[in-house]
Amino acid sequence: MGEILGIGMTHYPAGLAPDHCRGWPLARYMRAGTVIPEHRRDPKTWPEPMQEEWGDDMGEKAHARHREIMFSSFRKIRKEIDDFNPDFIIIFADDQYENFTDTIIPPFCVMAYPDIAFQPFVRMGKRKFENIWGLPDDATIKTPGCHMEGRALTRGLIDRGFDMSYAYKPMHSEGLGHGFANTILYLDLDQTGLDYPILPIAVNCYGSSVIRFQGADASSKRKYPDEPDPPSASPTRYFQLGQATVDTIMENDWRVAIIGSSSWSHAFLTEKNDYLYPDQEADQKLLATMQAGDYAYWRDMTLDEIEDGGLQEVLNWHCLIGAMDRLDYKANVIGWADTWCFNANKCMAVFK
Ligand SMILES: [Fe+2]
Repeated sequence: MGEILGIGMTHYPAGLAPDHCRGWPLARYMRAGTVIPEHRRDPKTWPEPMQEEWGDDMGEKAHARHREIMFSSFRKIRKEIDDFNPDFIIIFADDQYENFTDTIIPPFCVMAYPDIAFQPFVRMGKRKFENIWGLPDDATIKTPGCHMEGRALTRGLIDRGFDMSYAYKPMHSEGLGHGFANTILYLDLDQTGLDYPILPIAVNCYGSSVIRFQGADASSKRKYPDEPDPPSASPTRYFQLGQATVDTIMENDWRVAIIGSSSWSHAFLTEKNDYLYPDQEADQKLLATMQAGDYAYWRDMTLDEIEDGGLQEVLNWHCLIGAMDRLDYKANVIGWADTWCFNANKCMAVFK
């Protein structure tokens, strides 16, 4: 009989840089003039709470409060994991045109790496952002991987009807995509070391825009005819993947923390809001149903709803919620960092 702890968190890139870098996408877009239509570039056209958060410093002061909610939650999450003391940690996160590009886009992939080494600050360095720890841009972070467990998990998922892809080493030169890398960094926020072996499972969240927009916003340069890429798997399928993951863990008597990592509705994916702010109603619905244990709402969402609400990355949480549904676990939201300006609302939750 295995044991499982469930964790939901974010891998928000701008949290890795000090507030004065103003690393959130909206600040970048307002400086560079991309993606946001001309008639919405004047903050006076924005919803009132958004104008307040933006203030006279592009949100810099407000970002400190936003960060505090995230970081205090990450410390609580770390304590939960240490108390649980897992054999290893599974992270469901998206690959944003990092490891998987034009050569192949799998719907999901178990990264059964023997060892993990990654350079999380390379792309920050390209933007001239420092990091909150003052580590060099080319710093390499190492953690143990889960080669044998990854193989066994893949086998168990195939047995359960998932034609699972897997990999023994990365194609990506920086080692791990930022969804995984940032999650690992946030789990070790106080730089005391994180020794639990990590088993990343990549999820194709970006679906119809993963190659077209290169895992980013609609302003990216197109290499192919400008039409949607084929879709990701459905929310139902990712939900079922979480369920099958639980069954395989139980069969193997493993003790595992399962993490779903992503912010919720992303402003830069929400066309109906002119890419300015997230779909607040969609996020409130997710929060309410999750807290009520109405996981069927999540299971039955359509890809159209996902794309309409800029919820692509929430598909990582669909894997988590499917797992929690299988275990009949309840969500305890330990942090809710809501925002208009900082791209996405962030939910931090522990499931038992
Ligand atoms: Fe992401």
